[in-house]
Amino acid sequence: MVNADHKKYVFSSMRDQVQLRGFDDALRGFDGTDAVLPALYRKNIAGMLLSQDQIGQGLAAVAAQLNRDYERYEIQGAAPVVLVTVLHGAMVFSSDLMRQLCFPFKTDSIAVSSYEGTESTGTYQVKKDISHPVAGKQVLLVEDIVDTGGTLDFLAQHIKTKNPASLQTVALLDKADRRKPQFAHVSADYTCFVIPDVFVIGYGLDYEGYFRGMPFVAVKKT
Ligand code: XMP
Ligand code: MG
Repeated sequence: MVNADHKKYVFSSMRDQVQLRGFDDALRGFDGTDAVLPALYRKNIAGMLLSQDQIGQGLAAVAAQLNRDYERYEIQGAAPVVLVTVLHGAMVFSSDLMRQLCFPFKTDSIAVSSYEGTESTGTYQVKKDISHPVAGKQVLLVEDIVDTGGTLDFLAQHIKTKNPASLQTVALLDKADRRKPQFAHVSADYTCFVIPDVFVIGYGLDYEGYFRGMPFVAVKKT
């Protein structure tokens, strides 16, 4: 059975160390010159938190663990796996992750809203539901970031009403220090990086819809 002991995996904790890299480092990720970096990015980035290399290492670690856990499950003739990407924040992470997975799965997506600007509104709404039934299937939910914990808690409850055979969650980032007391129990089953309490953008994460295409994770200027 997948992750039978319900062990949770955290692959890197940067919780106590904000090591912001200078902007020149960030530029290197773009394969280009200064001139190609949009002025909007330049204005809003305080520094780089995770480089493309660091993200790659986190991805490889989480993918290796998922491959071990789900391969074992597949051998036992288990239910089909559906990888559900939480739109839009997790789409970049999810598309990189799925290309490292060595077990069969179908894909689906879900969109939920709660944030306005940099703050959660605390009320959650499914904006776009999973398109195909997941009853009896193994759902692997891919999230960009767990912050107060409300979104992941809401999504887990919502998906469980669809009676999947199992539900496991993967998150690129976890801002553990921001967890609200009522969501203290909430965390992803697989977390790539625990990060400090800073607002992050890039690699799928947005501020007011922008910055998702930046290939690294940066801290937004306040
Ligand atoms: P909660 O507070 O519900 O938040 O755990 C999870 C959702 O909020 C968004 N979020 C962020 N988006 N930079 C972002 O671009 C951040 O630092 C950040 N913190 C939370 C995100 O969409 C996530 O799904
Ligand atoms: Mg967002």
